[in-house]
Amino acid sequence: MAEFKEISPEAPMSQKALNWVDNRFPLSKLYNDHLGQYYAPKNFNFWYFFGSLNLLVLVMQIITGIFLTMHYKPDAALAFASVEYIMRDVSWGWLIRYMHSTGASAFFVVVYLHMYRGLIYGSYRKPRELVWVFGCAIFLVLMAEAFMGYLLPWGQMSYWGAQVIVNLFSAIPFVGPDLALLIRGDYVVGDATLNRFFAFHVIAMPLVLLGLVVAHIIALHEVGSNNPDGVEIKGPNAPKDANGNPLDGIPFHPYYSVHDILGVVGFLMVFSAVVFFAPELGGFFLEFNNFIPADPLVTPLHIAPVWYFTPFYSMLRAITAEMMYLLVAIVLIAAVVAVLKMRLSKLSKAVVMGGSLIAVVLMLAIDAKFWGVVAMGGAVIILFALPWLDNSPVLSIRYRPDWNKWLYGAFVINFLILGYLGILPPSVIGERVSQVGTLFYFGFFLLMPWWSRLGEFKTVPSRVTFKPH
Ligand code: HEM
Repeated sequence: MAEFKEISPEAPMSQKALNWVDNRFPLSKLYNDHLGQYYAPKNFNFWYFFGSLNLLVLVMQIITGIFLTMHYKPDAALAFASVEYIMRDVSWGWLIRYMHSTGASAFFVVVYLHMYRGLIYGSYRKPRELVWVFGCAIFLVLMAEAFMGYLLPWGQMSYWGAQVIVNLFSAIPFVGPDLALLIRGDYVVGDATLNRFFAFHVIAMPLVLLGLVVAHIIALHEVGSNNPDGVEIKGPNAPKDANGNPLDGIPFHPYYSVHDILGVVGFLMVFSAVVFFAPELGGFFLEFNNFIPADPLVTPLHIAPVWYFTPFYSMLRAITAEMMYLLVAIVLIAAVVAVLKMRLSKLSKAVVMGGSLIAVVLMLAIDAKFWGVVAMGGAVIILFALPWLDNSPVLSIRYRPDWNKWLYGAFVINFLILGYLGILPPSVIGERVSQVGTLFYFGFFLLMPWWSRLGEFKTVPSRVTFKPH
């Protein structure tokens, strides 16, 4: 047990109270470690708003969610009407509901921007691999959370969207049909599905999410934040003051607490504009078909997921039987190139060739629908591997070869195009474009070990670059 710290009897009440608590719970220590004495690089820019905005949206979703739960009925016969009741009869119910539905989309906007910041500044590289891995786990759980939440209003899109996505699981060989049954709790999406999705949405997933966010921030504060220059401010060779604090760092509070308030104000302006003037956002945030109660006997003409899932949905649809032939060819060419070009032992060569032949047999034997599911899941899972795919000698895009900026720009445009195509009904041209887009998406990551080393890198400065405004 740590020794009790005595305080002068003359000290003010507030200090005495704090001392009493500090002797029993590390309140001041936690405050200093994570805010008052947490040194962050002084050159943060607007990209660093999004971490705190994620926290804001998370808290907002939990609070509005609690109030929605007070009036919502997780029963297939009552759910739709209970949401209408919240919208029309509960005092301020419309605001709570629109804040929660807009908050779901805002969460993804903010998370995507937050992830992109990590990508361009190499924030996933050593020693922040775990910060990134926890982040990817958060993203995965967030997707599950949003998917289950969308079933709850029990509208046509809730119902049919869940039906389509849960049915995908039945494409998994051997266990698929049983797994889909387990998820639904019935042979079709029904009351049992609604009940379990409700339980997961309101308690299981938020608990996991909160735990992961805590782990994410603990991991970040253990190694310290990266910055737009990708220069370590806390490393053994980094310049420090007489107290051992980094010269290129400033305490999080008050500098970044104030900086982040600017981000919060900007965010709330856009957020309120949507909540008050366009909560459906043209059908992107709340789909029009979802204002019709779920009807298991009437399938909507076009079933599309909400915008934040559509890039991944496009990748799912891109994997057709025809596309599988191209993928088989790519696997075989990659295996031949690996055997001919890489310095591998005879055993490794045999393993590469054998492995690819087995892969090809499986690719041709199992239905393309299953590989579509693999592509959709793989598009998220591959993000976990990013820290080990990037071989660039520098972290930040600022010091990478100039063409890298074009490549990262193309990555974003490709992701947006995939997202747009996922909203549209299937078409021949859309299918071709999404196939090219899917190849680009995976090519970007899988070929990263090679392309990230190419070109001329600029000299990374020894100190962060900072111009006071
Ligand atoms: C609920 C969701 C999330 C919350 C609340 C959250 C919170 C935060 C906060 C507060 C920071 C420090 C401030 C900042 O650097 O902006 C941070 C940093 C970071 N986050 Fe997240 N985050 C979330 C999701 C994610 C996701 C999905 C990823 C990536 C897949 C991610 C990757 C990172 C990385 C790499 C850093 C360090 C950035 C740097 O130092 O340059 N985070 N996060």
